[in-house]
Amino acid sequence: MPRFSDEFLTELRMRTDIEQLISAYVPLKRRGKNLVGLCPFHNEKTPSFTVYPETQSYYCFGCGAGGEAVNFIRGVEHLDFTEAVRFLCDRAGMRMPTEGYDDSLAQKRRRMYEINREAARFFHETLLSPQGAAALQYFRSRGYSNKTITRFGLGYAPDTWSSLRDHLRQKGYSYEEQFEANLVQRSEKNERKSYYDNFRGRVIVPIIDARGNVVAFGGRVLDDSKPKYINTSDTLVYKKSLGVFGLNYAKNSKAGSLILVEGYMDAIALHQAGFDNAIACLGTALTGEMARLLLRYTDEIVLCYDADEAGQKATQRAIGIFTSVGAKLRVVRLSGGKDPDEILKNYGAERFRSLLDGAANDIEFALLKARDGLDLTSDDGRLKYLNNAVQHLSTVSDPLAVEVYASRLAQEVDVDKATVVSRVSALKKRRRSFEKAQHYKDVQQSSMKELTRAAMQSGATVKALHAEERILALLYANPDFWPPMRETLGAGAFSDETNARIFSALTAQIDAQESLDLTHLSDALSQEDISRFSGISKRNERLPGSKKELADCVQVLQTERERQKNRAVDVSHMSNEEFLQAMKNANQRKQ
Ligand code: CTP
Ligand code: MN
Repeated sequence: MPRFSDEFLTELRMRTDIEQLISAYVPLKRRGKNLVGLCPFHNEKTPSFTVYPETQSYYCFGCGAGGEAVNFIRGVEHLDFTEAVRFLCDRAGMRMPTEGYDDSLAQKRRRMYEINREAARFFHETLLSPQGAAALQYFRSRGYSNKTITRFGLGYAPDTWSSLRDHLRQKGYSYEEQFEANLVQRSEKNERKSYYDNFRGRVIVPIIDARGNVVAFGGRVLDDSKPKYINTSDTLVYKKSLGVFGLNYAKNSKAGSLILVEGYMDAIALHQAGFDNAIACLGTALTGEMARLLLRYTDEIVLCYDADEAGQKATQRAIGIFTSVGAKLRVVRLSGGKDPDEILKNYGAERFRSLLDGAANDIEFALLKARDGLDLTSDDGRLKYLNNAVQHLSTVSDPLAVEVYASRLAQEVDVDKATVVSRVSALKKRRRSFEKAQHYKDVQQSSMKELTRAAMQSGATVKALHAEERILALLYANPDFWPPMRETLGAGAFSDETNARIFSALTAQIDAQESLDLTHLSDALSQEDISRFSGISKRNERLPGSKKELADCVQVLQTERERQKNRAVDVSHMSNEEFLQAMKNANQRKQ
């Protein structure tokens, strides 16, 4: 049962320009009639992500993500189909159809936001009640003002098993709903389920997303016992690896950058001291996805991790990740305390301000690292420094920055600036041609890889899979080929489950005489299936097709099936060669 009318989806598609839409998330460069950029769905250094304005679609040769506007929004905003449609609908200034679509997941999410808000209110009120006296004292001892406590909605979870549970129940939220929001735990004994509070005897920090929804909680012990924190795990409205604390305020800051710190407590202390652009990434390892999320709110990140060894290691990792997604970066070297909270407490806001102002940008930071432990008064030390530094400068893409730091470097080690610049550009050239060759190989291999992966999974031969893909591509390009085949070809003929699902969706769409494009198919298929199908159409778009070829492919499926039955095959070995042969044939046909 389609959730939206054909006309509605067609209009949505017409009113959404894919180039504009994607540009808001990914910097794109024109290449011929298409555009390329760094893929937002996986980490890469050379762009494999391609946007095709002509077909209003995108495809990444690196990871196989692909589709049209709806699928892009599903992936990048982590929404389901209906929510992605709503998102694009709002963006296009259109009205959502009032009935007939399935809104249940969105409703469930709304309900979870409500229950979290109610829990936050409960924790906050408990903090201010007699029960919360010790917790309030704890916050006071950390120097938090009343204003800070209110501003961040800090709270206290009493040291009991069911206070929150009973409160929420009384407000009309079932145990099951509380469990799904990770506010209570469940235990099962003799088939009887019982529920008890997840946060007990802890001060509570609510995590509020950029849109102002309470999405999760962190609960800290009041003393030195372990574990120090208990946090909400993944729920329908929260993905821990993307959790950011403080973004709801920091996104409105006038500072023009985000200060990234390790702990909730550091972020809160910084806000109180007037640094309203501080955020914390909640103790999980930084990922490219997280970095890209932050870049939607700023283009400059100020890294300010703890001064200990763990913090410094994390800094190195974070530099790699942020530069690979194109962020401007500065790195603060903390001195006089182990973390921002301690520095503020020991020396005040002014000291922290001066550390911020003195923060090296990522190039300076790398150059400082490059001279670590070297004696610049000796020739040997200077040479080593020069070599390290030149290596690093060759990875810097901004030519102006290279100029500036080449001069500085030349002065430091007392050589000609021209020498430094020419060394850098020689290395750069070598790196670039290496990357280019690598990229070309990647693109070549990606379609090969996808087919062999599917073959391994389904146990079918690559030859059969190639035929399956051709069938899908042929039907998509020529829907009129379908009616005469209806009696001969069914989803059961496909060995690959994804292909079978795509086939069913595709032919159902043709039978219903609805528009045939990836947007309309998105309703019936998952995000991954749409990606797969857009890869299939990309691989096949230049191949002409005929009814005869379609019939041949169907024949191939049948004979492959028979052969498969009659022998055990070494799929991974045999099929690669067969695949190569098939690709050769296809290429010859193209010319
Ligand atoms: N963290 C966690 N679980 C732990 C320890 C840490 O989830 N057992 C996460 C929290 O998000 C915490 C961050 O890692 O904020 C940094 O850890 P830490 O420096 O130990 O905590 P702070 O919040 O800085 O607390 P404090 O200042 O009280 O030491
Ligand atoms: Mn800390």
